[in-house]
Formats: sequence, C-alpha cells, structure tokens
Amino acid sequence: MCSFTILLLLLLLLLLLLLQFCTARDTITTIQSLKDGQLLVSGNKAFALGFFSPGKSTNRYLGIRYNNVSEQTVVWVANRDRPINDTSGVLSLDNTGNLVIHGPDKKIPVWSTNVSASGNVFSAQLLDSGNLVVFQGDSKGALVWQSFDYPTDTLLPLMKLGVDRRTGLSWFLTSWKSRDDPGIGEYSFKMDLIGYPEFFLYKGLVRLWRTGLWNGVRWSGVPTMTPKFIFNVHYVDNQNEVSMSYLINDTSIFSRMVVNESGTIDRLTWHTDHQQWIGFWSVPGDQCDYYSHCGANGNCDSSVNAGEFECMCLPGFEPKLARDWYLRDGSSGCKRKRRGGTCQNQEGFIKMIRAKLPDTSTALVNKTIGLKECETECLKNCSCQGYSSAEISLGGIESGCVTWHGDLMDTREFSSGGQDLYVRVDAVEFAQYLKSQQSHSKKGMVVAIVVSFVAALFFVICVLSRLVMRKRKGKRRQNNLLFSPNSSTSFKTTQMENQFDESGTNAELPLFNLTNIVVATDNFSSSNKLGRGGFGIVYKGQLHNGQEIAVKRLAKNSGQGVEEFKNEVTLIAKLQHRNLVRLLGYCIEQDEKMLIYEYLPNKGLDSFIFDKTKGSSLEWRKRFEIILGIARGMVYLHQDSRLRIIHRDLKASNVLLDASMNPKISDFGMARIFGADQIEANTNRVVGTYGYMSPEYAMEGLFSIKSDVFSFGVLLLEIISGRKNNSYNQDNFVNLIGHVWNLWGEEKTLDIVDSSLAESCSSQEVLRCIHIGLLCVQEFTTDRPTMSDVAFMLCNETTLPLPKQPAFIFDRPGGSSINDLTLTTIQAR
Ligand SMILES: *[C@@H]1O[C@H](CO)[C@@H](O)[C@H](O)[C@H]1NC(C)=O
Ligand SMILES: *[C@@H]1O[C@H](CO)[C@@H](O)[C@H](O)[C@H]1NC(C)=O
Ligand SMILES: *[C@@H]1O[C@H](CO)[C@@H](O)[C@H](O)[C@H]1NC(C)=O
Ligand SMILES: *[C@@H]1O[C@H](CO)[C@@H](O)[C@H](O)[C@H]1NC(C)=O
Ligand SMILES: *[C@@H]1O[C@H](CO)[C@@H](O)[C@H](O)[C@H]1NC(C)=O
Ligand SMILES: *[C@@H]1O[C@H](CO)[C@@H](O)[C@H](O)[C@H]1NC(C)=O
Ligand SMILES: *[C@@H]1O[C@H](CO)[C@@H](O)[C@H](O)[C@H]1NC(C)=O
Repeated sequence: MCSFTILLLLLLLLLLLLLQFCTARDTITTIQSLKDGQLLVSGNKAFALGFFSPGKSTNRYLGIRYNNVSEQTVVWVANRDRPINDTSGVLSLDNTGNLVIHGPDKKIPVWSTNVSASGNVFSAQLLDSGNLVVFQGDSKGALVWQSFDYPTDTLLPLMKLGVDRRTGLSWFLTSWKSRDDPGIGEYSFKMDLIGYPEFFLYKGLVRLWRTGLWNGVRWSGVPTMTPKFIFNVHYVDNQNEVSMSYLINDTSIFSRMVVNESGTIDRLTWHTDHQQWIGFWSVPGDQCDYYSHCGANGNCDSSVNAGEFECMCLPGFEPKLARDWYLRDGSSGCKRKRRGGTCQNQEGFIKMIRAKLPDTSTALVNKTIGLKECETECLKNCSCQGYSSAEISLGGIESGCVTWHGDLMDTREFSSGGQDLYVRVDAVEFAQYLKSQQSHSKKGMVVAIVVSFVAALFFVICVLSRLVMRKRKGKRRQNNLLFSPNSSTSFKTTQMENQFDESGTNAELPLFNLTNIVVATDNFSSSNKLGRGGFGIVYKGQLHNGQEIAVKRLAKNSGQGVEEFKNEVTLIAKLQHRNLVRLLGYCIEQDEKMLIYEYLPNKGLDSFIFDKTKGSSLEWRKRFEIILGIARGMVYLHQDSRLRIIHRDLKASNVLLDASMNPKISDFGMARIFGADQIEANTNRVVGTYGYMSPEYAMEGLFSIKSDVFSFGVLLLEIISGRKNNSYNQDNFVNLIGHVWNLWGEEKTLDIVDSSLAESCSSQEVLRCIHIGLLCVQEFTTDRPTMSDVAFMLCNETTLPLPKQPAFIFDRPGGSSINDLTLTTIQAR
C-alpha cells in the first residue's frame, strides 16, 4: 500500500518535471530573469540557454548548448572570460535592451551586451537556429542585439563569418583556452580583406591555414567541397558585407564547425545512432596545408612518395637557402633564378594544374575580363607574377581574372580539384617548358609505338609458344610483366624520383640517388661539363625542383675507400663559411662516388684573372675583396672551424665566384683533417698543383697550414698580376714569384700589376698586398705568417716584416710542358 503511494508520488513528480520541460519558455522580458539552474529552450527544442560548467571546471558560465544531444555541447558562451565561481548567476534584460549577467555582486555586472536602445520594453528569445536575439517590444520589434554577431568557437548553420562593411564589425571564431575553460584561446578563424578576401586560421598573429579565395563554387583551398556536401556554403560580397555562411537542407541534422583549442577547424555532425559527434572534415590536414610551408614562391606537393620532400619551387624559381632545403626545411622559400629577367624580355607563363591559388593579399581581381585578356594584362605589368581565372562554374567554365603582384605565397598542388595557375617565367625557362611540352607528346608517341610493337611481338610469341611448347608457361608469365600497369609508368617514376632518397646511413648530409644525378646532368653529357677538378670531372646539373647543382664525379680509380670517403664528406659537410662552397650532398652507388655542390654561375677565379677581357671587369676594390675573402675562408679552415683543415690544393681554379663575385673556396677533395694540435704531417702521396706547391711539400711530402699559406701567396700574386705562376716565361726563365722578387729588389714592384688595374688601384694598397704575398712564399715555413696573420695584415695598416728570399723551386728553363696539371701521385720518398 505504502509502496504504491510512493510510486504514485514519483510518477506525479516525473509528470511535473516533464510538464516543466515541455513548457520551458524560449523568451525572457524586462521583468523576468533567468537564474542558474533554469533554462531557456528554443521552440524546436534543439537549443538551450542556461548556466553550465565546462569539463572538470566548477566555474559557471552562461551559454547556449544543444538541448537534445547527450554529450554537453556548448555552441556559444556569454561571460567566457568572466566566470562565476558559484551558482549565484542571474541573467536579466534591463530597460535599455541590455542583457546583463550578475554574479555574487548584485551591483556590478559580470557581463553585459553593452547596448543602449530607446524604448523600454524588450524581449530576448532563443531562436530555433540557436541564435539568442533581443527585440524591441515583442518578437515583431526591431533587432537590438544577437548572439550570432558575437561568435565564440562554433559556427552554426545560418551564422555568418566575415566583415560587415557598414559597421566594420568582424564576425570570427576564437578557440576556447581548454576543454575546461571557454575563455578566449590562441586560435582564431578570421577573414582578411587585404587584397582579395580570404579566411585564415591564426595562432595568435601567425597564419596557420588559409581557405584560399572563393571561386564561385568552393574555397580554392578546400577541393573536397562539392555541391553534394550536406551543407550549402553561401558567399556574399557586396558593398554591405563580405561573408560566408552555410545552410543545411535537412534540419534534423545537427552540424557545427568548431575552432578547436588544439588548433584545428573541425566540421562535425551529430550521429544519433552512435550518440556522438562525427568529424567529417578537418584542417589543417597534411603538412602542405600549413600556411607557407614551402615559403615564398614555393610549391607544396604532399602526393610525393613516402620519405620524399614535399617542397618544390615554382617554375623559374630556385631555393633561397639551398642548404635548408636539402635539410628539408623549405620555409625560407624560393627566389627567381638570376637570368634575363621577366620584364618585357620574352618571358611567358607556365601552367600549373590542380593548384591551390596563392595568397590573394597581393592580388587584384577583375571579374569582367577572361583568361586570355588576363594574360595580356599580366604581361603588361612587370609586377605581375602570375594569374588565373577568378571564378569557375560547375560546368567547368572559367571567368574573371586574378593577377598577383608580389611573392606567390602558400601555393600547393592537390591530387584532385584545385585550379590552373599561370606563373610568369623568364625566356629561358619558357623555352625549356615549350620544348618539354613538345618532347612529352613525342615521347608519348614513341612509347605508344613501342608498346604496340611489343604487344604484337608478344602476341606472336605467345601463339607460337602455345603451339610449340606448353611447358614454358612460367617464362611467359615473366614476359607478361611487360604489360603490367606499372611498367608503362616506371620510366616516369624514376624520373620524378626525388633527390632525398636517404639510405639512413648519414642523417646529416643528404645521400643523393644516382638516378636523380643522371637525370640532373643529362647522363653526364659533355655539354654539362664544367671542368676537371683534382679527382674527377665536374658537371652542371639541375634537379627536378629547379635547383642548379655542380656534381663532381670522382674518377673510379681515385683509390679512396667508401668508408674513408664518407667520413671525409661528413666532416666537410660540417664546414660552413661564407667563403667556402657549400657541399649539398653526396652519392655512392655502384662504383660511383660523387660530391654535389651548390652551383656558382661565375665559375672559377682563373677564368677572370687570366683573361684580358673578363679581367678588366674586376677592378682593384673587387680583387682586394676577393683576396680578403679567400684569406678569411682559409682562416676558417685552419683554425676557426671545429676541425683543422689543410686544403692542399688552393689555386685560382679552385676559387669559385658567386653571382655577386664573392669568392668561395672549393674542392676539398684533397683536404686533410688535422687533429686540433697537429701541426704537420707527412705523406708519400703528394697531391696538388705545380706552381702552388710549397717546396717542403713538393720535395719532401711535408704539408702543414704553412704549405697552404704558400699557395695563398702564389694565388695573391696571380690575382694582382693577372699571370700564372707556372706559365710565366720571362726572359730569365724565372716564374712569377721569382719575377716579383726581382722587381721588389729593383724597387719596381708595381710593374707587375695587371695593366687593367692601373686606373682603379691605389698603389699603396697594391704594394702592401704584394708585400704580404712575398711573406707567404718565403722558403722556410717558420718565416711564413699564418693565415690569420695574413687576414690581419690585409685589414690593418701595421708595419710588415721584410720578406726573405722566396723558394725558387719551379724554375724551369726551356719552358714547362706541365702547366696547370694536377698531380695525383708523386712518390716523394
Ligand atoms: C531529440 O531526440 C529524440 C531521440 O534522440 C528525438 O526523438 C527527438 O525528435 C529529438 N528532438 C529534436 C528537437 O531534435
Ligand atoms: C568567488 O569570487 C569572489 C570574487 O569574485 C570571491 O570574493 C570569493 O571568495 C570567491 N569564492 C570562492 C569560493 O572562491
Ligand atoms: C561591455 O563593456 C565593458 C566595459 O566597457 C567591457 O569590459 C565588456 O567586455 C563589454 N562587454 C561586451 C560583451 O563587449
Ligand atoms: C539543398 O537545397 C538547395 C536549395 O534549397 C538545393 O539547391 C541543393 O541542391 C540542396 N542540396 C542537397 C544536398 O539536397
Ligand atoms: C580537437 O581536435 C583534435 C583533433 O581533431 C581532437 O583529437 C580533439 O578531441 C578535439 N578536441 C575537442 C574538444 O573537440
Ligand atoms: C578590367 O579590365 C578591363 C580591361 O582591361 C578594364 O577596362 C576594366 O576597367 C577593369 N575593371 C576593373 C574593375 O579593374
Ligand atoms: C602594376 O600593378 C601594380 C599593382 O596593382 C600597380 O601598382 C602598378 O601601377 C601597375 N603598373 C602598371 C605599369 O600598370
């Protein structure tokens, strides 16, 4: 009996509760308020407004959440940075149309909408869309305020993101601080109006991801956005506003877009069957999504094979900091290749397909002209770096024109979707592009012919073998492989193979793959030959990312073991100095050993100083800077680097000049690495070049930092005189050193100076340099200065010691037939 009444009472209570729930109001007026624990529920029961505590926090916030979703999902928070620490919170509507939250303190509000409207009757209603609105009078009155104008981390259907051009109000999302704290976090998703509008995901002020421009169908950076999406994106750009919003046709689906506190933008829908939110889209996705992952003018392609580098330069560009790129950091970006230029110089455009169009903050858009006129407009203006159509339609019709007038930022390639982008390139690049387009179609034809021929042959063989011998099935299967889908593409894949195929043996320095080097140098074609170095021939090459390289292919009989080679390469890779050529990587495969260096367009110093016409372009100041640069590079090798390196083959042809004529010492092929306190060593394999070798080295095989100083002295005298030491064939059959020494004695030293320098030089400085040169070539090693002494003497006006007699070991009466020949082996002992 008793239990029955209890049951009845409970049922009654439940009924009451249910009644309360069903009749929950969606509106408050100026005379009502909403206490903590009470709810305002939208008419369709989809959303509820009330106080809540997020995650593990006990703080109270006023927010809007889904009413019918089992997992507490808050879509908007009022007092996100001003929590209430108890349950005293009250929401009320004052008589100027302000929504106000009070906490424990009944006088000072915790939060307020800060509006002041005229009239004194207002009502606040939670709409079916999840929008909390304040009206004047009843719900037919003018809108005073709405929560959709102040988004927090969630975009709901019908809500806008963008900018109200009339009021300047910006609609943007900001992440929560954490699951437990809805305060303003560090990530935001915001429209940027500079140039042409785009949305950016920011971390603080740093851009993380970009939607790309709106192309009429989708965001250029969101190729998966198709019209079959369960939502329709609406983009508005007029004088009132520029904004996007989305609608869902099926209102029974709960869908939201959130800027997550871990820095992703997620699109989620509520799955009733699983009772959970399912994410179906999230950015940033792959590494190429991250803003400017490959830097300015870079192009990111995440479809490369596993382990390969995703960054490339746009056509006509090369890496700005080659070494960073080879260590797989593309963020420094790319610069234009230094060539004829792209301004009214027969330049053209290379088409890139499936691109995410570059950042439009430097872009201009003209919707009234088409692609052809767009090209013309772009060509006319030298600041234009590329163009594309502004809009596409579902039928594939393109219209409008975007031109970019600055670095092309944040371009990437999609495996599907994307748009055509036309990048401005110089005449050389354009000619190559046209040629490759032609040869591609030719290659296609050749492949087709070969394939059909092989197929016919195979068919004949097949029929014959079937007739004659049935046993050879196995072998025929092997033949069959010829027609597997892989074989037709195998040519392409080896060509496209990236140069970063590291074997893992040497994490610091990239090991290049032979195939790539063969492709880059056009199979070591003689037209790519740059010269012959100490241990082999040097070739010019171009990697598929556009980077130009110099490949030194070591002669097969160089006698060095693989391990020894690797060690040496690794050590040298650690050397970094402005005046040393950068080693980019190496290659050991089959019996090939190769070193890959940065390519320097101006080649060797010898091609300037020993050439009368080119030499005249090197005036004295420049020559002095070159001498100083070489000295600094040598100081670094000898003492400033972690290792002590004796170069052993310093000579004019081993000093390369970069585009601004800065000297870079190259060819460490013969360099020896000394222990920190080792001064001298002995070898029975004397390597080096006649004319530059110190006497003790050439005759006794003794080498030390002082033998490099000797070579430097010879080089210095050559730079000033424009003559080679070892080919100097004057009256008395003395070499350049001897000649200078004689003139020094007769106080006619300046006679030696290259005639093309006569105008540009200061005789005092030249004389001082020759003096230093003579100090370097003194016969006894102890008399010679160190390289740091030399660098000091070059830069400071100190008094110099008098030079003693230089070594005259290279007098060759009768003229030598061994000129600039590098000797690899002289048995000295
Ligand atoms: C709330 O959920 C229940 C079951 O999960 C469903 O029957 C009801 O229609 C939902 N109400 C709304 C407004 O979505
Ligand atoms: C709550 O916050 C008020 C000030 O806003 C403070 O005076 C009070 O001590 C706090 N109460 C608790 C339990 O932290
Ligand atoms: C309202 O104004 C106060 C004081 O100026 C300010 O602290 C608060 O952030 C404003 N509230 C909103 C929602 O903008
Ligand atoms: C949604 O509705 C719009 C217009 O009402 C229509 O154009 C679109 O095709 C619909 N989308 C889907 C996926 O049904
Ligand atoms: C934020 O996104 C990450 C990655 O998508 C996810 O693992 C995490 O659960 C999300 N956090 C919230 C609060 O949704
Ligand atoms: C678009 O280009 C056409 C042709 O050059 C020009 O007449 C027109 O003024 C341009 N419109 C805008 C908005 O720049
Ligand atoms: C080229 O375009 C830039 C950027 O819009 C503009 O400032 C410049 O005046 C244009 N130059 C010419 C010659 O049209």
